[in-house]
Amino acid sequence: MENSDLINIAAKARALAYAPYSKFAVAAAIVTKSGTIFTDCNIENVSLGLTVCAQRSAGIAQGSRDLVAVGIVTDSTKPAGPCGACRQVLAEFNPNMKAFAAGLGRNVQEFDLAELLPLPGQGVLEGTSRV
Ligand code: THU
Repeated sequence: MENSDLINIAAKARALAYAPYSKFAVAAAIVTKSGTIFTDCNIENVSLGLTVCAQRSAGIAQGSRDLVAVGIVTDSTKPAGPCGACRQVLAEFNPNMKAFAAGLGRNVQEFDLAELLPLPGQGVLEGTSRV
């Protein structure tokens, strides 16, 4: 699986984005350890606050678990990395996964999730004891 394959799959999934408010269509293609690919797109809502980002579900409800990499395609001229909330959601399934982001120009920028979100679980769960 080449990074460009993941980006091409995400680019196709972008057609399914529901983004009537921001008009910023985003899609993600996530590849797991077994090589299965799951796609997602952003789903906006009239409330705006209930909008869900493309990377947010990561195919979990379809059985996606050991995430290896996510390809993200956005409407922007430059690549856009995952937002903070999506970083946390992705880190739940692999804090060391890679993210490849491309804008419409298709130049791909590579990120390490561990650099985008250091210490993802430290705030609440790890090392805390209940009293
Ligand atoms: N969006 C994503 O889908 N992923 C991100 O990482 C950042 C933003 C979506 C949410 C909203 O529908 C639109 O892009 C504008 O913010």
